[in-house]
Amino acid sequence: MLIQIPDLLTREDVAKVRALIGRAQWTDGRITAGPQSAMTKNNMQVPETDPQGTEASRIVLAALHRNPTFISAALPHHIFTPLFNRYSGGESFGAHVDNAIRSDPRTGTRLRTDLSATIFLEDPDKYDGGELVVADTYGEHRVKLRKGHMVLYPAHSLHHVVPVTRGARLGCFFWTQSMIRDDAKRALLFDMDRSIRQLSAETPGGDATVTLTSCYHNLVRMWSEVCTCRRALRHRANGRTSRRRRGAPSG
Ligand code: NI
Repeated sequence: MLIQIPDLLTREDVAKVRALIGRAQWTDGRITAGPQSAMTKNNMQVPETDPQGTEASRIVLAALHRNPTFISAALPHHIFTPLFNRYSGGESFGAHVDNAIRSDPRTGTRLRTDLSATIFLEDPDKYDGGELVVADTYGEHRVKLRKGHMVLYPAHSLHHVVPVTRGARLGCFFWTQSMIRDDAKRALLFDMDRSIRQLSAETPGGDATVTLTSCYHNLVRMWSEVCTCRRALRHRANGRTSRRRRGAPSG
């Protein structure tokens, strides 16, 4: 499932993020690439250790935690601390699949990348090229969105970024480990959650709404993988996990 989430970041958020990363010490984007994707990756990136990048990633994380569509679609268990990149002067990223496992030095967490995400930080008319092209069984999807908008897609997808031949493409990217590992199951829960919300608005407390909500939670119970170890609980106690992430959205 590939979904677009408009206005994940407000215009003010985008301005703050851009001001912060504008002061960062940019470096070669291959610092976070695996050996194979490093051969085709050609862009610039804010290092994970850069304090301006860390501050900017907090703005993005706060926006993710308050976005009901992201929560419902991703059912996040762990979110990799967002990173920032820039393509200009013909830079591109050839066809690749993102690494399956990522270690996040800023949280000390290791996560499985179930979902990949890109948030666009520049409007499409400011640069040529730079489309994110994601392949699935229905063909190729070309994505180039207004600044502040996000695209979320299964991390197992082959994808590439088209060369940027004018201007600069600024972006934020990260991965999510979902409580629901399987993309098809997650897509089904997303559809079900949207239907429950609609039914709840039309017939609040109706028998069908209650039954469907029960089915939703019981499917999440059947399919979810959540970590109950002490470290994860401490992580939550520190407030890094929002209230909504503790459970499924519906109901
Ligand atoms: Ni990628």
